[in-house]
Amino acid sequence: MRSLYDGRAVVLAPMEDVTDAVFRTLSRTVGADICVTEFVNVEGLLRGCRHAKRKIRIEATDTPTAIQIYGSDPARLAEAAEIAADAQPSFVDVNCGCWVPKIAGRGAGAGWLRDPEAMVAMAKLVVERVAGRAPVTVKTRIGLGPESHMPIVDLARRLEDVGVEALTLHCRTAKQGHSGGAEWSWAQKARAVVTMPVIVNGDVRSADDAERAIRETGCEGVMIGRRAIEHPWVFREARARLAGEPVVPPTPAERIELCRVHLVANVAERGEKHGVQVTRRHLAGYLRGLAGAAALRQTLLNTPDIEGCLALLDSAVGEVRYVEGFDGFGVRSPVESDCRTAAA
Ligand SMILES: Cc1cc2nc3c(=O)[nH]c(=O)nc-3n(C[C@H](O)[C@H](O)[C@H](O)COP(=O)(O)O)c2cc1C
Repeated sequence: MRSLYDGRAVVLAPMEDVTDAVFRTLSRTVGADICVTEFVNVEGLLRGCRHAKRKIRIEATDTPTAIQIYGSDPARLAEAAEIAADAQPSFVDVNCGCWVPKIAGRGAGAGWLRDPEAMVAMAKLVVERVAGRAPVTVKTRIGLGPESHMPIVDLARRLEDVGVEALTLHCRTAKQGHSGGAEWSWAQKARAVVTMPVIVNGDVRSADDAERAIRETGCEGVMIGRRAIEHPWVFREARARLAGEPVVPPTPAERIELCRVHLVANVAERGEKHGVQVTRRHLAGYLRGLAGAAALRQTLLNTPDIEGCLALLDSAVGEVRYVEGFDGFGVRSPVESDCRTAAA
């Protein structure tokens, strides 16, 4: 894992219905170093369900990519980890951080934080089952909330002791969901007691955030979720800042081109109707700051066919420019973001 997490790795977060093969490829073209699949239910994997199989399919060019699994039963998680390892990911990540009641309430995701001892025993079982076939990592939160003392520091040490090779820390409690600010200081505290890489996650929305998160915590990488949905260029911007290079925002033409590329790839992957639909959630962010963006976006939202969408984008590209005063980045606070209702 050390070769992957070199102290300035910029990682695409696992996000349900977002980080599919298409979005991973696109994120990589704009600088993501490592990608993680959306979480995959172990029961679906063990049943051989079509959706689960699709989610763990990793093409040769889609690397380094981890497969993330979730479940509440240690034996089933270990069994599913073997299936995930057969798909040859760079590593298998176990989700111990999802706060959504239907998942955490049933003991999966952040539900594991109710019983840190059980979480460690589960991780040990998973590590042993796929030993020699895939490294195992864990993504979790600082605690369940509202403990007077967060379990994460002790937990990090114990997870490392049983062979977990890296830890990603979303620096909120499960109770917080996505509200409140992420407290990166917990990543620094966890980092201080282990030798495995720790990846800091939560509210990294700009190159400056990425640099500050790594500097303040000493972590080996940053993971970026919601900001990537609206502004995937954040990966190359963060990489540039971490390498001490100038941070350059996308040009207006690049914004249009990314819409095009994402649309074409989604349609190739999912067919016209669904492909056009799933691209729509990204449009507000991709087109942000462009003169005439609201009208273009509205017309695109009302255009169901790819030919129509591409024609609109082609006609926009010739004279596209930023509105006066827009800096090309368009960082907004998470509260204002388009993804504020996201679930996991
Ligand atoms: C739409 C959406 C889906 C998510 N799905 C997952 C998931 O499948 N697995 C996971 O570990 N976290 C999931 N998350 C949480 C993110 O990976 C990340 O921890 C969280 O959004 C905080 O990072 P950010 O502030 O950079 O967005 C999801 C978040 C969002 C917004």
